[in-house]
Amino acid sequence: MVPVILLYGAGAIGCTIYKWLKPFHNKLTLLARKRTAESLRTNGLGVYEDSEENLSRISNVDIIESLDELTEEPDIIVITVKNYSLEEVCNTIKEYYQKKPPLIVSLQNGVENLTVLPKYFSRIIYGVICYNAWRDSPDMIGYKEKGPILLGTPDNSLLNEMKMVQTVFQKGFSCDITLKYRDAAHNKILLNISNSFFTLLGVGFQKIDSLDKFRILTTSITYEGLKVLKKGGIKQVKLGSLPSWTLLKTAAILPGFITNPIFKKTIEKSSGINSMAQDLLINENSNTELESLNGYLLKFAKDAGFDAKINQKLYDICKQEFSKENFQPLKIDTVWNEFQEVL
Ligand SMILES: NC(=O)c1ccc[n+]([C@@H]2O[C@H](COP(=O)([O-])OP(=O)(O)OC[C@H]3O[C@@H](n4cnc5c(N)ncnc54)[C@H](OP(=O)(O)O)[C@@H]3O)[C@@H](O)[C@H]2O)c1
Repeated sequence: MVPVILLYGAGAIGCTIYKWLKPFHNKLTLLARKRTAESLRTNGLGVYEDSEENLSRISNVDIIESLDELTEEPDIIVITVKNYSLEEVCNTIKEYYQKKPPLIVSLQNGVENLTVLPKYFSRIIYGVICYNAWRDSPDMIGYKEKGPILLGTPDNSLLNEMKMVQTVFQKGFSCDITLKYRDAAHNKILLNISNSFFTLLGVGFQKIDSLDKFRILTTSITYEGLKVLKKGGIKQVKLGSLPSWTLLKTAAILPGFITNPIFKKTIEKSSGINSMAQDLLINENSNTELESLNGYLLKFAKDAGFDAKINQKLYDICKQEFSKENFQPLKIDTVWNEFQEVL
């Protein structure tokens, strides 16, 4: 039986999955909100890897704006909205499929979904997204690398369901199952805590005047985050081609003349325009995942008995700056000065 799949949320992740999977899985529909749906209907969906030279566009995107429009009940709903939209979306799905709730695949950064989704559903698979994707406009999406997504559950239940979803996903992109989901999700949070820092500096939007200061701050934030996770008992999990703990530690402790070139390359490879920068600088949306990523790390540190001074400072500055009505990225020198008391 070919499962009927609905992708709920037509952003960077929802659209890349749609584009990669649609040629191999006909029973696939994308749920988009009005403005995005109209844009996708008019212009089709353009997706490119790395640069627009590699753009390929599909027309006739199978789109709905509300669950009423689905002609067949979905077997699987893949939720690809951000953490701050989860409650609303879960409510809508639950109301609609009270009699026969579908299998849910929840694709968000962080671990907030582990608390939100079980309030609404009983069969939930989670996914750690190990690639970077961004929206230039509602119908134009860029990405770096075709996956992978790591599927898992906190107690390793639903193994057969995970294998079924993996079989479908693997037709279009790289997808694995992890039996260490909690570790994997925390490993991803570690890589995401610098998203707020990059957004604060407007990486990709303005020139960073000092690579040294930028490297020292980035690696200090991440290395402290790594120590927090270790103190809290989290183990390393390989996340596709994303940086390993050894690389993060090496970048933090070796001198700049050795690490600057590696750092520059890693940043270019792994960052693109991150999801938080998309919210604040492109979509001018004041909602961000700061709380579910950086805020969560601080709570985790507190529970583990670790004084995460550098990450606390980062969180405090971001919270203040991001809440300004017209957020403008700061200069590296300004941020550098703010961090001096905790470095
Ligand atoms: N992008 C990445 O590189 C990346 C990498 C790893 C993990 N992640 C995680 O993946 C998750 C999704 O990120 P993303 O980058 O795809 O976000 P995104 O580009 O902002 O897309 C979110 C989508 O959800 C839609 N949405 C929000 N509320 C909705 C609702 N009530 N009903 C229907 N649609 C709704 C938005 O609609 P509109 O079109 O109307 O805005 C948007 O299309 C996040 O947790 C993120 O942290 C992202």
